[in-house]
Amino acid sequence: MRLFRFPKTGNLDDLTLMEQGIPKPAERQVLVRLRAASLNYRDHAIAMGRYGMGVSPENLIPLSDGAGEVVDLGPGVTRWKTGDRVASTFFQAWPRGEAQPADFATALGGAIDGVLTEYRVFDENGLVHLPANLSFEEGATLPCAAVTVWNALFTQRPLRAGETVLTLGTGGVSMFALQLARAAGARVLITSSSDEKLERAKQLGASGTVNYKTHPEWDKEILKLTDGRGVDHVVEVGGPGTLQRSLNAVRIGGFVYLIGVLTGGDINPLPILGKNATVRGIYVGSREMFEAMNSAISVNGIQPVIDRVFSFEETKDAYRHLASGSHMGKVVIRFP
Ligand SMILES: NC(=O)c1ccc[n+]([C@@H]2O[C@H](COP(=O)([O-])OP(=O)(O)OC[C@H]3O[C@@H](n4cnc5c(N)ncnc54)[C@H](OP(=O)(O)O)[C@@H]3O)[C@@H](O)[C@H]2O)c1
Repeated sequence: MRLFRFPKTGNLDDLTLMEQGIPKPAERQVLVRLRAASLNYRDHAIAMGRYGMGVSPENLIPLSDGAGEVVDLGPGVTRWKTGDRVASTFFQAWPRGEAQPADFATALGGAIDGVLTEYRVFDENGLVHLPANLSFEEGATLPCAAVTVWNALFTQRPLRAGETVLTLGTGGVSMFALQLARAAGARVLITSSSDEKLERAKQLGASGTVNYKTHPEWDKEILKLTDGRGVDHVVEVGGPGTLQRSLNAVRIGGFVYLIGVLTGGDINPLPILGKNATVRGIYVGSREMFEAMNSAISVNGIQPVIDRVFSFEETKDAYRHLASGSHMGKVVIRFP
């Protein structure tokens, strides 16, 4: 089988295609033939040595998000049969409830080897069924970005129909925020650096759009779109450089989900108390969240927004495409 490894991270050019024997599943493990993977912002940060959340230092197989089919079972496996269509869970060991410290040490493609390999053995608890309405390419978009959105909007204080959600930019996380919030009956406002992308977001159901390049004070535009009240929820992928404006744009008593760090800067906590706002950190989510989200995806017939599909051999081009920021939604790699 073929796979990619970083002998050491820090330079995308070091990503090396290798040959290795197909592994055998041990007790309670399953062998999956991977058919597609998707890239997240994190994966490029890891490749460039700029990810601060625990990365195996040498010989890493990258990527957390994969989909494929079960082709062999180790002894004692009860959850799977051969032929099942599956997706990887970002954390191999966070089944439900609150995460434990050890769970975070099981993040695919960072703390442990990931899915950029034609075959991989998984613990039987580190997989979920793919929604029946999705292809392998579509299913491979879900494990990180979509589960993160589900955790933010539908767990501790679930989004209510009629509420307004603001999401920033049109990357993988934000497109899932748009689709999942719309399916729950919410009104979605979205920002982007591109009018063309905003037009497409409207076609996907966005009710209001703001170009954050031509309107650097985009928070004021969001307030106008909500008659001065502010939005109920912000899917905050920008980080310190956008948080102050997100807090301006949220209503009194609203919710801001801290997800991304696309920008730097200092954070002033005072507006949080001034707004009586709840600011919640999100780190992907559990298998149970993934399964609940998959039900919502099936019932609502949601199809993930895929910007472009690259071949296995074009993997480095896929990374570069993601880093260019020209994409909207997810960048996918199709396996042979
Ligand atoms: N906490 C977690 O568990 C978790 C999970 C997934 C992702 N994340 C983080 O969330 C962030 C987004 O991830 P992703 O995978 O969706 O990335 P992505 O697909 O690469 O999307 C990035 C998009 O963000 C937009 N953007 C960039 N700078 C912006 C700014 N200053 N203001 C508003 N939007 C801006 C751009 O959209 P336009 O081209 O439309 O301008 C860009 O295309 C990353 O920091 C990532 O690490 C965190």
